[in-house]
Amino acid sequence: MPSPVKVIVVGAGSRGQTYSDFASIHPDRMQVVGIADPRPFARRKLQERYKVADEDTFDDWHCVAKREKFADAVFICTPDRLHKDPAVALAKKGYHILLEKPMAVTEEDCTEITETCIQSGVMLVVCHVLRYDPTIRKIKELIDSGAIGDIIHIQHLEPVGFYHFAHSFVRGNWRNEAESSFALLAKSCHDLDLIHHWAGGRRCIKVSSFGSLSHFQRENKPPGAANRCLDCSVESDCPYSAKKIYLDRVKMGFTRWPVSVICSTSIPDIESVTEALKAGPYGRCVYECDNDVCSNQVVNMEFEGGLTASFTMVAFTEELCLRKTSICGSRGELSYNGHELRVFDFLTQTSTKYEVDMNVPGCFSKAGHGVADYHLVDSFISAVASGDPLLIQSGAKETLASHRLVFEAERARLESRVVLCGTNCV
Ligand SMILES: NC(=O)c1ccc[n+]([C@@H]2O[C@H](COP(=O)([O-])OP(=O)(O)OC[C@H]3O[C@@H](n4cnc5c(N)ncnc54)[C@H](O)[C@@H]3O)[C@@H](O)[C@H]2O)c1
Repeated sequence: MPSPVKVIVVGAGSRGQTYSDFASIHPDRMQVVGIADPRPFARRKLQERYKVADEDTFDDWHCVAKREKFADAVFICTPDRLHKDPAVALAKKGYHILLEKPMAVTEEDCTEITETCIQSGVMLVVCHVLRYDPTIRKIKELIDSGAIGDIIHIQHLEPVGFYHFAHSFVRGNWRNEAESSFALLAKSCHDLDLIHHWAGGRRCIKVSSFGSLSHFQRENKPPGAANRCLDCSVESDCPYSAKKIYLDRVKMGFTRWPVSVICSTSIPDIESVTEALKAGPYGRCVYECDNDVCSNQVVNMEFEGGLTASFTMVAFTEELCLRKTSICGSRGELSYNGHELRVFDFLTQTSTKYEVDMNVPGCFSKAGHGVADYHLVDSFISAVASGDPLLIQSGAKETLASHRLVFEAERARLESRVVLCGTNCV
């Protein structure tokens, strides 16, 4: 029996912990042997769970890079602006890399990561988790089998969800472009990657985009509102109230995301959540934050051969990230509303529904993208164990290509023009 793949977790926050769960379910396939994170609380949690030696836990990724190589792979789950340096340094040390999306926050840095991994002969998987979702895989399989003929148009909607947007993109880690990245990269790189994937080998040749930050601005603050929800006299009339999003949930015994990520030094309970709302970023009035990323954005694309695609990201929705997709082909239409996948055949004028197996073992959540998270780690660990990069769906080259499309779409928005992809002119 082959020995388990040894992994070092760099960034033991929400994502680092989720991916590490694979070692609890399959200790024969993966072992956590090192941890780097400046937060003692986060570090200790993983150290205790996986019995990692003190000398193999660090408060910064640089310490891992300075040591002799002592594992097969690293999971890089640090904040967006801290992806490129550890990825390049650890690829050079010969570690295979699981890297959170976005790869990096500039096109130059994404290119450098890709080139370094290729030159160092290491495998890279970028956490475009949706590519590993069984339904998304089924969609690709149906397209490739010719079930809807030639693809003519893709329409794809990402409803972010009103309180998810307030949590992550108004109060939280991805609210400010200078601190993380622009919304199309931070949130929707998954979606442009899917569109790119579904378009097959076709290159996107033209892109345009519009979008802005709406509503979550100082001028929309209701009269009488305070700067913190716990002190606010008009909070009861506010759908974005932190009391409703966090405190009411923990009072009902709900401690998963988003409640789970707001207490950075302790487990969430009524006391720690109240404390976090009194002093921390998540208790701020949504009209008084330093947020600047878009709340709604559209992207239009034309691919080689005339295939068109249209993407919408919007904050103000009931659904949380439950994407809606329609792919129109010459012989049929494929539609997926986040619950049901079906193909309408133009010849027979009948619909066929498709179901996929969404079961995964252990503690990977069945909600959100938990199933896809499991399959992503499964693919990466299998690829490292067998030395077969073909098991990876979101490797360096295809991710670089779809990230380039994201940078080009954002350039089109900022410069109010159609960008001819691969060039810099109108
Ligand atoms: N694939 C997805 O669908 C998905 C979903 C959410 C987040 N993300 C991405 O995952 C990354 C991490 O997000 P998260 O939600 O886990 O954030 P997080 O804040 O919970 O975790 C990041 C961790 O990195 C640690 N860190 C900071 N500096 C470090 C350093 N110098 N060395 C080592 N560790 C360091 C922090 O202390 C923190 O624990 C981000 O890039 C984010 O955009 C991806």
